Amino acid sequence: MKLKRGDRVTLDIVDTAEKDQWFGRTRDNIGVFVRGQTAVGDVVEAEVFKSRKSHVYAHLIDVTTPSSFRQDPVCSHFGSCGGCKWQHIAYAEQRRLKHAMVVAALSRIGGFEQPDVDNAVAAEQVTGYRNKVEFSFSDSRFLTGDEIASGAETFAKPKTFALGFHAPRNFYKVVDIDWCHLATEATNTVLDCVKRFALKHKLPAYTVRNHTGFLRHLMVRHAARTGELMVNLVTATHDAGITADLLALLQAETDGGVHTFVNNITARKGDVSTGEREVVVYGSGQITELLAGCRFRISANSFFQTNTHQAEKLVAMVLEDVGSRADAVVYDLYCGAGSLSLPIAPHCRKLLGIDCVEAAISDAVGNASLNDVGNCQFEVANLNQAPDLMATFETFGLPDTVVTDPPRAGMNPKALSVVLRLRPSRIVYVSCNPVSLARDAGTLCRGGDYRLARVRPIDMFPYTNHIETVALLERTTT
Ligand SMILES: C[S@@+](CC[C@H](N)C(=O)[O-])C[C@H]1O[C@@H](n2cnc3c(N)ncnc32)[C@H](O)[C@@H]1O
Repeated sequence: MKLKRGDRVTLDIVDTAEKDQWFGRTRDNIGVFVRGQTAVGDVVEAEVFKSRKSHVYAHLIDVTTPSSFRQDPVCSHFGSCGGCKWQHIAYAEQRRLKHAMVVAALSRIGGFEQPDVDNAVAAEQVTGYRNKVEFSFSDSRFLTGDEIASGAETFAKPKTFALGFHAPRNFYKVVDIDWCHLATEATNTVLDCVKRFALKHKLPAYTVRNHTGFLRHLMVRHAARTGELMVNLVTATHDAGITADLLALLQAETDGGVHTFVNNITARKGDVSTGEREVVVYGSGQITELLAGCRFRISANSFFQTNTHQAEKLVAMVLEDVGSRADAVVYDLYCGAGSLSLPIAPHCRKLLGIDCVEAAISDAVGNASLNDVGNCQFEVANLNQAPDLMATFETFGLPDTVVTDPPRAGMNPKALSVVLRLRPSRIVYVSCNPVSLARDAGTLCRGGDYRLARVRPIDMFPYTNHIETVALLERTTT
């Protein structure tokens, strides 16, 4: 039987699927991709919205028999907020699913037969673990199903202002967040304070529809180990009066807890949160975090691992895979502010770190000197143009080990081919996306020069469907 648009089906949910979907089977064993908050073990009613030769897609209508893996979500915004998608799933099951995601990606996309993948390293802290949260402003608040059903003209919250997270698959609408359970208490205090300030002073949210308005993003960093707090307000223009007044309110409501307040200013039309210009309104423009025995000074626009407690374990895993050799040359590609480079440095002769963000490299250089690390060189470069870096690589010395920690999209094919040309004996691939990891590891191993020696997922993002993985690739040829 062929399913068509509008058909209602009963499905047994059996797996997760790409792009935040789930996978279910009808009683006739037809596979269907499902959108909505379901769980493995649920029996659901769903409505088909797209039917192709190979795939059928449906929206969840109702859960008729709930899975035993379900739990009550902690957050009142669960369901409408695009932030964490797995609050309704017990933690042990979250870890099992994440492990299965890595195995599936490596076999289906990477072409590895029955890949040996360790269990996902668990997080002790499943809420309040994020040291950085980025909220968006919008002039179009996402209305909940209840609000729409009420048919009211006005609501307790205005329709034309929101500060929070984008609704799933919605570019314009933002769910106004009262409290984010992944953020710390101080971060939530800042969120509440900025929201009240914006509403009181009628500051307009920037809109990407017609590119007007003032407030674009609010980024809060709260260092887990030092408690230092950074507030970064991203706006379309700079207004010294507004930032001064907001700072005074923030300091009053956090008992002087704001360590630094920066204003990133961007006129770019896209939904970006880094400014072309940064005004440091208060403090040094950086906060300090402690990780793996090192001190890190972090600027607003530098990447830093968002879960400090789990990052501690991640660094230990990377160190284990890199090993310790007094004569080794190590490259740290996509090095950010040096959070992997500096812990590795004492275990090798010298290290070359590369990142395309100037602020990150400037932080990495500063962090090396702050930690008395003298054997690292950091360069600003775009690894998408890695072949242009061959001269730099040859001058520095070819690597014994390459650590690579690219963004979600994974490594650019040119960067991969350069790594193959460099022929390191080990590649330690740190990834926040099993799909791009599988694709890139497949490319690196396809020629037969490398083998996948160890794969260890680590849960840096409880309650979300994201998983970090550390994969060790070893060269098989001499
Ligand atoms: C996942 S972060 C890893 C950072 C670092 N390894 C850490 O643990 O803190 C990815 C980094 O890649 C950098 N990046 C993204 N695209 C890049 C590119 N094309 N060339 C160089 N660096 C890039 C980003 O600036 C970011 O710092």
